[in-house]
This record gives sequence, C-alpha cells and structure tokens, in this order.
Amino acid sequence: MKRRLVILIFVALSIGSCGYHEDSDKQAQPSIEDNKSLGAFHTEMEGCAICHDETAEVTDSETYENTQCIECHGDSADLGNPELEYDPHTSHLGNINCTSCHKGHETPQFYCNNCHSFEHYNMPFADAVKKEPWDKDWNQNAIQKAIDAGPVEETDVIVVGAGSAGFNASISAHRTGAEVILFEKAPFSGGNSMLAAGGFNAVGTPQQKKKGIEDSIEWFVEDAMKGGRYQNDEALVQIMAEESADGIKWLVSLGANMDDLKRSGGARVERTHRPSGGASVGPHIIMTLRAAAKSENVDLRLNSRVEKIVLKEEDKSVAGVVVHGKHSGYNMVAADSVVLATGGYGMNKEMIAYYRPTFKDMTSSNNITATGDGIRLAKEIGASMTDIDWVQAHPTIGKDSRILISETVRGVGAIMVNTDGQRFINELTTRDRASDAILKQKDQYAWLVFDTQLIEKKKMVRGYDHLGMLQKANTIEQLAEITGMSSLPETVEAYNRFQATGKDEAFGRDQMPLNLTQPPFYAVRVAPGIHHTMGGVAISVESEVLNLQSYPILGLYAAGEVTGGVHGYNRLGGNAIADTVVFGRRAGVNAAQFALTK
Ligand code: SIN
Repeated sequence: MKRRLVILIFVALSIGSCGYHEDSDKQAQPSIEDNKSLGAFHTEMEGCAICHDETAEVTDSETYENTQCIECHGDSADLGNPELEYDPHTSHLGNINCTSCHKGHETPQFYCNNCHSFEHYNMPFADAVKKEPWDKDWNQNAIQKAIDAGPVEETDVIVVGAGSAGFNASISAHRTGAEVILFEKAPFSGGNSMLAAGGFNAVGTPQQKKKGIEDSIEWFVEDAMKGGRYQNDEALVQIMAEESADGIKWLVSLGANMDDLKRSGGARVERTHRPSGGASVGPHIIMTLRAAAKSENVDLRLNSRVEKIVLKEEDKSVAGVVVHGKHSGYNMVAADSVVLATGGYGMNKEMIAYYRPTFKDMTSSNNITATGDGIRLAKEIGASMTDIDWVQAHPTIGKDSRILISETVRGVGAIMVNTDGQRFINELTTRDRASDAILKQKDQYAWLVFDTQLIEKKKMVRGYDHLGMLQKANTIEQLAEITGMSSLPETVEAYNRFQATGKDEAFGRDQMPLNLTQPPFYAVRVAPGIHHTMGGVAISVESEVLNLQSYPILGLYAAGEVTGGVHGYNRLGGNAIADTVVFGRRAGVNAAQFALTK
C-alpha cells in the first residue's frame, strides 16, 4: 500500500519534456499518441516551459531538463524512501539524471532492471508510446555525411567513455592544460567501473605500511604474470605496479577513501585497497571522480556515442571523431588526440560468440554499456589487437542472475562446495581455475557457504541477503536439508578442523580467517559468468594505440578494459581498477601533451 502511495506521489511529481523529440524535431507539439506520457502530463500543467528552455535546443545531456526536475522535486537523495525495499532513488548508481529512467515522451525505462529483476515497481506513464531507442543503429550514411560536412566544434582532447579510465584520463588531460570533451553514450557516467566490487591493487602505499604488510613491485609483477599465465605484456604490468601507489594517492587527493585492505585471489599479500566501512569500491570511486570532474569543469556529455574515429588524409594522425548525440544527431568534432576508454565487450553477445564461442550462453556481470565499441572503432582504422579472444569467467555470479558475488566473500572466509556439499578446489585459486572446476561439477554450479561472522564483517553480503539471494538456516544440518547438499555437515566439520590447525589438508588453502560455527548459516548458489575481457586494443607503455606494424597511431590513446596485454590470459581481482587509474592517467597526460605540442 505504502509503495503504491509512493508511486502515486511520484507520478504527480515526475518530470517531463515537451515536443522536443530525439530526432531534433524541435518545437513540435505533443502528438495524440503522446498523451499518456510524462511530457504531455506536464504540458497540460504549464506548457513546454515547465521542463524546457524554449530559447535553446535540448542538449544531449538534457542538463536543463534535469535541473528543472530537481528544482521541482528534489534530487534522488531527496526522493529516497527508506521504507521501500528496493529504493531506485538511492541505488549504488548515485545521483543520476532523472531522465535516465523517466523519459519525457515515451515509455519510461526502469534502468535497474538491466541487471536486476525487481518486479514491484509500476513506472509512472508506463503505457506511454514505445519508441525505437535513439542509439539502435550505427548509421554509416549519417557518419559519412558528418565527416563531409566537417567539424562543428574543436577541442584538444576527446575522451570516449566515462568510467574510471575515462574520468582519470579526462581529469589528467585537463590538469595538463588541454581542453577536453568527455563523451559517454549512456544517460549517466560510471560504465562498468561503477559495478566494481573488489578494489585497487597497489604496492608500497601508506595503507600497507600502516598494517605492516611487506610487499614489493617485483611481487606485484610476478603475481599478475603468474595469474595471466605469463601471457601479459610485462612492460605494461611493470608500469601498473610502479605507478599503483601514486594512483591510490591521486584518488585519495580527489576525495576517495582507500583505507581498507584485503587479499585477492592470486595475490601473495594484502594489496587490494578499498574504502573502509564496507562501501563498494566501484560506486565510491566513480562518485569521487564524478565530483572531481565537475569541480574541474570537465565537459562531460551524456547520451553521446562516438561512432567513428576520423584520421587526417596526409599523415593518418587523429583528426577527431563523429559523435552521435541523442538530440544533436551526427556531428564531427575535431581534436588532435582521442583517448578510448570504452571498456570491454562482455555484454556484446555477437563478439563473445565470435571470439569465445564456449562462453556464448553465459550470463555476464557487466554493465550494459560494455559492448566493445572502442574495439570496433580502433579496428576500423587499422589498430592492432592483443589477446582479443581472452575472456574471463568469474566463478561466482549469482546463479541465474547478473549479480556478482564478490571474491571478497571467499577471501573473508566462505567455503565453496558442489551441489552434494563437497569442497572441490582451493577457494582462493585464480578465477579461471575456479570457473573451470565449477563447470566440471555435475550440475555446473556451486554454493558458497558461510556463517553469521562473515555477514557481520562484510556489509556487501547483507546486500545479497537483501536481494533475496541467500538460503539461511540455524544449523548446518538444516542448511544441508534445504539446499540438498547431503555431505555439507561432514565438509564443514573437516573445514573447521583445518581452520583450527591452520592447515587445509584437502586443498591447501592458506588463508582461512573464519570457521563456520556461528548460526545462522548461509548459502548462495553461484555459477561462472563473463566478467572481464582481457584482450583488446594493443597499446604501448605510453598508452598509445598501435597499428598493425606496432607503430603508434598518432594522437590515439587507450586505457582500461578496451586494451589488451595488461592482464594476459587471466586478470587478478583488484587489477582492473589499478589498470584504469594508472593507464587512464597516463593516457590523459600523454594525449594532452601530444595535442598541446601540435
Ligand atoms: C570481485 O570482487 O570478485 C571482483 C573484483 C574484480 O573483478 O577485480
């Protein structure tokens, strides 16, 4: 009842826009079919001016419209309702554009359900007309027309993709003195980094020192190389290790808290830095970077997909890009440097089926934005690819879901058992080995089992409970009964014995911080799912994109998951964020210097 009330209030408060359509059909009046939309509802109240600046065009970011929403209704934090079970206004996505979900003249989109399957929200104006998404196709004719028409705008550096790598590149380029435009195709920034659950691997930080952790650059490199089956580009790994501590210092200087430390799979010591107090690392870093970019006036443009990198005829250096904006259509923007920070291709079914056919039916933990755009853009202009077919399956995605059950759960103490309740591998092995081992079990899924001590230690686990993913019982025997894991009691008894002696006689697990003795006991079903695409655009240590002859394509840089070589055949937990920060910063500085010396 309460929920319905909130929805009704929301209907009354919701935002809208008038006759401004995605095809730039400015000033058109709302059509008859539009009459159930948010826009029509608001127009009836006060006309188009209630949402739009009638003297100006709607920008792709819909900044004016969203400011109007907030002025009338408050921002997401104001609209949060602690009584709701799943409150979309206070989600891990942070304060995002209202128009991400509440569309002015078409069916609303409940963005959360791109990953979740919440059933109980009736979106206001759900029966408004359904329109084709503005970004359905890449229209080659429109791209060519924009190139022929020439640039409508000029800048020094264009950054493509506003996740961690893109923000780090943009802020760094801006601080180096360049004019920067940051294009993001989604209606809000964050990309896949927004979902990062692990942390940032760094060596030689004050945080490690404070905890008395002995570590070294050599160990960092060795661990990453071993985890990557020695197929990584060692020069890139060396840079990532050497500049990791500086990356932590940089994030802290921008306002992040990276004070908690944990040990991730494949690492020999605790070097995964994360916020203290249990906050998830991805949202924390992204909110820090969003705020920093805003305070430094980085020109972030949402709903803007880059669809072509344009090269100069004479020397094949970068001339700019063609960007497809939700409202502005196709335009060429000139720049001397472009940084690709578009992420991987974990959500592009065709690319997965092509490069890694055995994973084609797997779920993915990735954001819907991870569609391999940067790989396509770079390939088209002759960039070389490294390890493009190496895709990481994370062993513990909630079965039949897209929700990652973080490696932290095993790191902190959970055991992993098959559907009979038997352990089958050292839980802290690398992801590829753990995934392979699960797929060899008879039901091709597994359970993570833990007790209340772990729930108390890790806030994120309460999140899984909240999402209804956990089975719960007061005794191990009861848990065995409700899950059908008949051998679970003997397994737990043996594990507790190993934990007490510090020696895992079954699988040689060397870190067993918790026993399983404190009720209630919990279990969550997990299966491997696509998590990271290790391969991508080939880069130099300076983050320059390389052509098929391994020479830099002048003015083109790349950082983060769009690149290949850093992680070899298998990425270690905590190395994705390290990669995005270290190489994002390098790409930004180098792109700016290149542009400024032209
Ligand atoms: C995890 O926490 O399991 C994922 C972290 C990562 O991918 O680095």
